Amino acid sequence: MKPINVGLLGLGTVGGGTVNVLKRNAVEISRRAGRQIVITRASAKDLGKNRICDTHGINLSTDPMDIINDPTIEIVVELIGGTDFVKELLLKAIENGKHVVTANKSLIALHGNEIFAKASKKGVIVAFEAAVAGGIPIIKAIREGLSGNQIQWLAGIINGTGNFILTEMRDKGRDFYDVLAEAQTLGYAEADPTFDVEGIDAGHKLTILASIAFGIPLQFDKVYTEGISRITRLDVEYAEQLGYRIKHLGIARNTADGIELRVHPTLIPERRLIANVNGVMNAVLVKGDAVGASLYYGAGAGAEPTASSVVADIIDVVRALTSDPENRVPHLAFQADAIADIPVLKSDCFKTSYYLRLNAEDKPGVLADVTRILADHHISIEAIIQKEPLRDETAIPIILLTQITLEKEMNAAITKIEALKTVTGKVNRIRMETLG
Ligand code: NDP
Ligand code: HSE
Repeated sequence: MKPINVGLLGLGTVGGGTVNVLKRNAVEISRRAGRQIVITRASAKDLGKNRICDTHGINLSTDPMDIINDPTIEIVVELIGGTDFVKELLLKAIENGKHVVTANKSLIALHGNEIFAKASKKGVIVAFEAAVAGGIPIIKAIREGLSGNQIQWLAGIINGTGNFILTEMRDKGRDFYDVLAEAQTLGYAEADPTFDVEGIDAGHKLTILASIAFGIPLQFDKVYTEGISRITRLDVEYAEQLGYRIKHLGIARNTADGIELRVHPTLIPERRLIANVNGVMNAVLVKGDAVGASLYYGAGAGAEPTASSVVADIIDVVRALTSDPENRVPHLAFQADAIADIPVLKSDCFKTSYYLRLNAEDKPGVLADVTRILADHHISIEAIIQKEPLRDETAIPIILLTQITLEKEMNAAITKIEALKTVTGKVNRIRMETLG
């Protein structure tokens, strides 16, 4: 059979990894796909740059449109990143009848509804396994492997850079910005690393996971996002003394009132497997009604782990080329006309338990004031610990763990606690999940 021609947009970390994996494993890959897969064209901004891959034999260009308009290209692989410019490129590729593979989570989370609608109209595939959790085939697992289940919730460490930073800070006492710089050198971080540390990248990925888990439209604007920049070494230490680890989680939960979509640092019992996922590794825990809990673990970022997912998507597209477009696996797992508008809950309606750390004067009655405020808001306390004052300070740190409560009540209680004359500074609040 004639080889299939692939056009690659981007020759950076993931693009370079994709060239290398496709070349190294060419024989295995063509045995699996049933055809030889060849990158005949590629584009990058600066063709004079040193690359991690050998581009010998590939027709290079600085203009991605050259590839999109090339009639010999059947699959366009987008590994540039960003949204507006790339969205126009991909819509044009689809218009030209090309199948698309992308690792671009921001693009899918923000514009996926429009892109998939256009792709379905044109009968082409848009594959995006590498967009979530790097090398872990989590999209395929939920979309196909778990398709007999009602998904009840999922929770994942879905940003490699953030997990790498938290792990290095905890294990080696390293400085936040020093570790972030290393993550950038290693090619893990986004072009704008605030996406990694402020939870935006994880929010994009959670948007995608929630759609394929619950059959809802992609709606990034409804995801609550909180990053890791407010986590202190002190919180990490106190959490450990209480038997917990702090991990940055994306959580999607289907409740009777609607769907919770939230990304934030979370205390997890240290005995849970997911609490022991370290470095750039990612893991997603999925709870289905039939399967129970299942955990998917692997490298969340980096050249070849991500290329592993990109290449698997290319093979899937090649295998599906002869199938009737109506009978392919739907882009978002559910048939396009069966996507449901289930409400996504506002953060006030989240129900979870909390770790609270506050600094208070060492006076009788202070603790009583704090516990009274919590009781007024129907918040039950699970544990209270009063620590020794930190060096050169008179205020004493108080740590409270609460039982499950409504976020609205917790917000109101924190405002009142912070207003107490005996409490100094802000209350540091971290949500807790048992993930049982
Ligand atoms: P890089 O920055 O390493 O590579 C981007 C590539 O796109 C480069 O080759 C660059 O050219 C090219 N490029 C940038 N702007 C233009 C432009 N205007 N016109 C033509 N080419 C352009 O990014 P990554 O490989 O890290 O990421 C690519 C995508 O994969 C992103 O969407 C990212 O979110 C996603 N992703 C990344 C992962 C990772 O571990 N890095 C993991 C999972 C997903 P030049 O090289 O000449 O500068
Ligand atoms: N910047 C992302 C991360 C890349 O660190 O997880 C993988 O999506």
